[in-house]
Amino acid sequence: MKKVECIIRPQRLEEVKAALTELGVVGMTVQDVRGCGKQKGVTAMYRGMEYTMTLLPKVKIDLVLRDDQVEEVVETLLQVARTGELGDGKIFITNLEDVIRIRTGERGDAAV
Ligand SMILES: Nc1ncnc2c1ncn2[C@@H]1O[C@H](COP(=O)(O)OP(=O)(O)OP(=O)(O)O)[C@@H](O)[C@H]1O
Ligand SMILES: [Mg+2]
Repeated sequence: MKKVECIIRPQRLEEVKAALTELGVVGMTVQDVRGCGKQKGVTAMYRGMEYTMTLLPKVKIDLVLRDDQVEEVVETLLQVARTGELGDGKIFITNLEDVIRIRTGERGDAAV
């Protein structure tokens, strides 16, 4: 199992949700977040040094997927979330130890 954390533009959320639903993804957690990436946004002076910090609104989608779902989900995210402009976001993928459905006690792939 993999945890796929995806940070996207808020304006892309509805399309991404629809595309993931079509792929059969059933569970997701979505949060409004703020962040910045490689570009540093507005500059300000801090102790004589240029110091930069602008946190822009983004949406973070957490997905837990079976290994065999990951590639098509990533492909879809790349297609649907991309505008080609700076700030389209990122996808972080990590191995996930276990998943437990609280209602039934099922674990692993069966609980995803
Ligand atoms: N290294 C990182 N660690 C954690 N979060 C990140 C990282 N890079 C980007 N993010 C998150 O992703 C959001 C979008 O990042 P963004 O797409 O601007 O990345 P980038 O590396 O600057 O790429 P681009 O050059 O396409 O803008 C950020 O606002 C932040 O929330
Ligand atoms: Mg950026």
